[in-house]
Amino acid sequence: MGCAATGWLFGVCALVALVCACDDAGTPVVRPPWEVAALPEAPVVDPVVADLGRLLFYDPVLSRDGETACATCHSEIWGMSDGLPVSIGVGGGRLTGPGRSGEAVMTRNAPTLWNVALRASLFWDGRETSLERQVSAPLHSPIELDKSIDEVLAELRTIPEYVARFEAAFGAVGDEALNEDNFRRAIAELQRTLISSRSLYDAFVGGDERALDETMKRGMVLLAELGCTRCHAPPTFDREAFHDRGIGGDDDLGRAAVTGRDEDARAFRVPTLRNARLTEPYFHDGSVATLEEAIAHEVWLETGRAPSAEELTALAAFIGRGLVDRSREPDRPEVVPSGLPVPIDGFRVLRP
Ligand code: HEC
Ligand code: HEC
Repeated sequence: MGCAATGWLFGVCALVALVCACDDAGTPVVRPPWEVAALPEAPVVDPVVADLGRLLFYDPVLSRDGETACATCHSEIWGMSDGLPVSIGVGGGRLTGPGRSGEAVMTRNAPTLWNVALRASLFWDGRETSLERQVSAPLHSPIELDKSIDEVLAELRTIPEYVARFEAAFGAVGDEALNEDNFRRAIAELQRTLISSRSLYDAFVGGDERALDETMKRGMVLLAELGCTRCHAPPTFDREAFHDRGIGGDDDLGRAAVTGRDEDARAFRVPTLRNARLTEPYFHDGSVATLEEAIAHEVWLETGRAPSAEELTALAAFIGRGLVDRSREPDRPEVVPSGLPVPIDGFRVLRP
């Protein structure tokens, strides 16, 4: 049994050397240059509650215009983001994706919701900590969904399928089931199912030596050598920390708006690199179009030089293929209980 397989069993394998063993053919086996730990599994989720949350998440009944849903800006087609530099809320129509236009333009890029259950702080500036409480923010924002929770609840109570689903999910009757707490809980619970622990990297640290090819392994080693894992720390490849990466202007104070401290000006939370391949464009203002450009910017910040073509290819291979897992993405419903049309993506051109 290899070190990684043993590590999988015991949770942590204290491996610091790049090369710790040889396989049967005598080829050196590359190991992650960090202590290996499995991505934690999702907190225990009630599947009936999460499935109700899925319908609410895709249902434009949550919006003033009856066309916008959470999924407009957090779509499984875009890695639970929206493919836009900055998101566009109510009044932008039913089409989602990078061709969406409208007046309700936000100032920040929609973060992925993948592995959001494993995060202690939410939003680019970390101003929220609870998924249940977070639900108020997009609802009450005039440039997101623009509808109060009370208005939404009143409408849901007129839809027999929602009444029945809340009653089944929460084992109570009427308003004892369909109320604000349970509405928040259902949407939070759906988000807790979004754990991407089946990437090629996860298979590799689980003992499958062949899961990563040589280029991806080289990228994995470079991620540590170039200092990236200081912030994009495994196994989540993010961190509860805020840094100024020289992106964007002075309009957005970032973390400083929460702490009031000058030294936090333009500092933003370290985003995860898991499933980042799907969430272009990048950074808090979406100002960098491709993953390769984002990586090049970060390498330049860390080393003061541009990455070589070989380094860029390897890093993009590890992040863009090794850290991707869409297996638990939500099933987009064709119809939702309100009968309103589900937002659709009009623009994604799937990559090979
Ligand atoms: C109009 C686009 C839009 C809609 C609609 C929208 N969001 Fe968001 N969401 C965003 C943007 C942009 C941010 C980042 C805002 C910030 O950091 O200040 C965000 C942040 C979040 C976060 C924090 C994620 C993180 O990693 O920090 C969660 C959770 C979230 N949204 C869930 C939801 C849910 C649930 C709904 C529906 C009730 C919803 N969003 C509707 C655009 C949207
Ligand atoms: C000191 C902490 C730190 C280090 C070291 C670091 N990053 Fe980052 N990284 C961040 C922060 C913070 C952001 C978001 C900044 C923003 O949006 O303003 C970010 C953003 C990114 C993004 C864009 C992700 C997205 O979803 O928008 C990529 C890709 C990335 N980093 C890759 C790397 C690579 C590769 C390295 C190593 C060469 C690296 N980073 C080193 C903190 C760091």
